Amino acid sequence: MYEHDLLIIGAGLAGLRAAVEGTRNGLKTAVITKVHPVRSHSNAAQGGINAPLTDRGDEWEGHALDTIKGSDYLADQDAVEIMSSEAGEAVLEMERMGVIFSRGDDGRLGTRRFGGQKVARTYFVGAITGSAMLHVLYEQALKHGLQVYEEWFVTSLIKEEGAVRGVIALDLKTGELHAIRAKAVVMAAGGAGRVFEPSTNALICTGDGLALAWRAGAPLMDMEMIQYHPTTLARTGILLSEAARGEGAYLLNSEGKRFMEKYAPDYMELASRDVVSRAEQTEIDEGRGIDGNVLLDLRHLGRDFIEQRLGYLQEVAVEFLGIDLAEQPVPIRPGMHYIMGGIKTNANGETEVPGLYAAGECANVSVHGANRLGANSLLDTIVFGRRAAVKSVEYVKTVGESGSNAEQYLKDEKKRLQDLLDREPGHRTAVIRNEMAANMTKGIGVYRDQNSMEMADAMVDEMRKKYDSGIYVQDKGKTFNTDLMSALELDFMLDCARSVVSGALMRKESRGAHFRTDMPDRDDANWLKHTLVYKAEEGVRTETLDVVITQWQPVKRVY
Ligand code: FUM
Repeated sequence: MYEHDLLIIGAGLAGLRAAVEGTRNGLKTAVITKVHPVRSHSNAAQGGINAPLTDRGDEWEGHALDTIKGSDYLADQDAVEIMSSEAGEAVLEMERMGVIFSRGDDGRLGTRRFGGQKVARTYFVGAITGSAMLHVLYEQALKHGLQVYEEWFVTSLIKEEGAVRGVIALDLKTGELHAIRAKAVVMAAGGAGRVFEPSTNALICTGDGLALAWRAGAPLMDMEMIQYHPTTLARTGILLSEAARGEGAYLLNSEGKRFMEKYAPDYMELASRDVVSRAEQTEIDEGRGIDGNVLLDLRHLGRDFIEQRLGYLQEVAVEFLGIDLAEQPVPIRPGMHYIMGGIKTNANGETEVPGLYAAGECANVSVHGANRLGANSLLDTIVFGRRAAVKSVEYVKTVGESGSNAEQYLKDEKKRLQDLLDREPGHRTAVIRNEMAANMTKGIGVYRDQNSMEMADAMVDEMRKKYDSGIYVQDKGKTFNTDLMSALELDFMLDCARSVVSGALMRKESRGAHFRTDMPDRDDANWLKHTLVYKAEEGVRTETLDVVITQWQPVKRVY
């Protein structure tokens, strides 16, 4: 039996930032991750991290207000105040740990502007910011003595007297199931992007952490808030960073017009993501697109600038579409990128389940509300990853030895997986997964309405039935049984899809990313509220919760 004080599920930025805190505080800390830590999806974050640094004349209140306006007033303002006021120190700490941020001509940390903000307060490492931060945090965590269960897949959480006390996990190399006991567990397993197709997310983003926490009793909050990023590469759905627009790129329609003039005359291409994605979709739907895309034009920035500051984007455009950004505009369209919703936590990462903490994309603190600002996700990971660990360190000190029912959990889980492997030929994972993901994009898209959401609702029920009655794992082997792992991931994805659709059907208004063509207005009188979806015997139980307003009253959102 393996035992730890603190076990962190996921080794992206939130998980590793929590791990650094746990190890620094002398806890016997481990992370468990289904991939090598530096293959976590944080690695793909491109454009940067926001911080209002006071030596630039910036102030945290400005960042907080931009974040709250960006969220369409759904963010909890007390949590945003914490994130914004801790941002500067959090980013500078990353620099001291070893992240080599890009610098300006004056030798100071360089900044670029990101969407929804007038101030250039996004710090970056070219267009590989997530990767640079992830490598540094990994190195730091190892230095402090972190143990890593790498290529281990968590299949369920162990609970004792209502509190989470560890996990059951599959060692993918050997195919053996193990129980790992822990006094506290931090869920930092990332988002659920692949519940939708296409998505900018890595194939590993299957919502495992969201579903595990949900099954353990934690509610998922505002799951209907799905972010469509305005610039994903045509045909592939690969992310082309907002940094391009931050550095001055234009969006053009088929008539060669900078159409954002019509939708956001003040912010133009740097309005909030939901606003820009809707503008693009409208242009496409009204016939001013090109094969379902619009164009991103960087030509006026010049070859040297593009290659120095946006080299990764140039590589992607050349490799995948044979387009040289210095010569030609590139076709792009809105694509699923991020889920603002997640496991409900407070600002210390505490969930409603004792012993279970959450941080990063799988959590909902809530600082992003109905629409996240670009470059606030990396900030969220390091601020709330640290805070979740600080709180769990306190908690661990209060927890006694386990009476351990871990052996029983292990036995039950072995039986569940064996039953899955013993099934007669039936439905294949890829077929259900593709049908679910394509229909989630149709039903819960940039624009949605009652009909589209009801279609998604019925589809999720049907896919769940197919899964439960006849999912089939053809590979019976032990070593790296990816067929088995994909089936387990799909089980998690279906739970996420269920909570997204249930949240969407609840919200009878348009707010941020949840834009209903049949109810196009925001309704603060009735819907300045979070949606909560709990797992229940009969499927789901839903509730609402008031948004926390501190100093910024909701006003009309104009860019
Ligand atoms: O466009 C981007 O570089 C993405 C950044 C983000 O989602 O924060």
